[in-house]
Amino acid sequence: MSAVSLPRSPQRLRRALLGAACLMAAGVARAARPAVLLRLSHVVAPDTPKGQMAQRFQALVHQRAGGRIRVEVHPDSSLWGDDDEMEALRLGAVEMLAPSLSKFGMAGVPEFEVFDLPYLFADLAQVRRVTQGDVGRELLQRLGRQQMLGLGFLDNGFKQMSAPRPLRAPSDYRGLRVRVQASRVLGEQMRALGAQAVVLPFAETQRALATGVVDAAENPLSNFLTQGLAALQPHLTLTQHGYLGYAVVTHPRFWASLSPGDRELLEAALAEALAHGNRLAAALDAQALATLQRTPDLQVHSLAADERATLRRHLQPVFDGFQRSFGPSLLRDVQRAVDGRS
Ligand code: LMR
Repeated sequence: MSAVSLPRSPQRLRRALLGAACLMAAGVARAARPAVLLRLSHVVAPDTPKGQMAQRFQALVHQRAGGRIRVEVHPDSSLWGDDDEMEALRLGAVEMLAPSLSKFGMAGVPEFEVFDLPYLFADLAQVRRVTQGDVGRELLQRLGRQQMLGLGFLDNGFKQMSAPRPLRAPSDYRGLRVRVQASRVLGEQMRALGAQAVVLPFAETQRALATGVVDAAENPLSNFLTQGLAALQPHLTLTQHGYLGYAVVTHPRFWASLSPGDRELLEAALAEALAHGNRLAAALDAQALATLQRTPDLQVHSLAADERATLRRHLQPVFDGFQRSFGPSLLRDVQRAVDGRS
């Protein structure tokens, strides 16, 4: 057994103890400085599926990494917004994003706009058969073309229309200026209804509605509620006409810079956080609906089955047109997954 030799004189002992204390303090300081900083930037409020997923991811990583990895969550476009977040990722000014699937088209991966097709999905179970299966895996791989590493999918929910009037029939859309995300499918969808599509970053939507730059918007309910849009839009029509979800992405260079152990830790924490967000999505949607139905000065309109069928028929040419532009196999694979045939 090796013995520790102690200094004999009290002075030398004091000096040795002081030296050891200094070394320990330096060690603590070193341990307190994280070896990895991961900034996760997103554009929505914390109380949404994406906001909650991000917070869960942060908590899990901090719990497990013992101070070695620090996750900073920047919600509400407080670090980067729709216009600059993907460029920031490429430049290493942020390490993780969760843009909506609609935003990857303009970033050079147009296949992601397939998710914007009107009435492609009837419910979240159908969405998950696509995102959690082979088609989803294949789509995430395609992000590599634009120097993004796709790590997983997250749901928000189905979009509903808000406007100065109820939107029961296709003709009710005529002449409205509607804020949309930068997606060709969403632009075409509004044009097919006789509305003008106005592409704006998410962070500018509220001001654009308040100042009359746009008249109407399409949002899942948790976004509509948490952005305070109920105070600006007197009518909310539950059209359920399209899906809004996300892909979590990082930069391959950042991911490669991590140790295998840290990568594994982050992957496991993210998988759990995404499962948490996906579990919450439907509940947050239902909660938001209940709150909005009680909101004074907001009228919530449900569509009858035949009204929904008419809207869907009206949007069918958009669906058919993009079917050609995506190429036959992508939509076929998506529809097979939706129907549970793959
Ligand atoms: C939008 O721009 O409307 C959405 O993509 C916002 C979001 O991230 O949910």
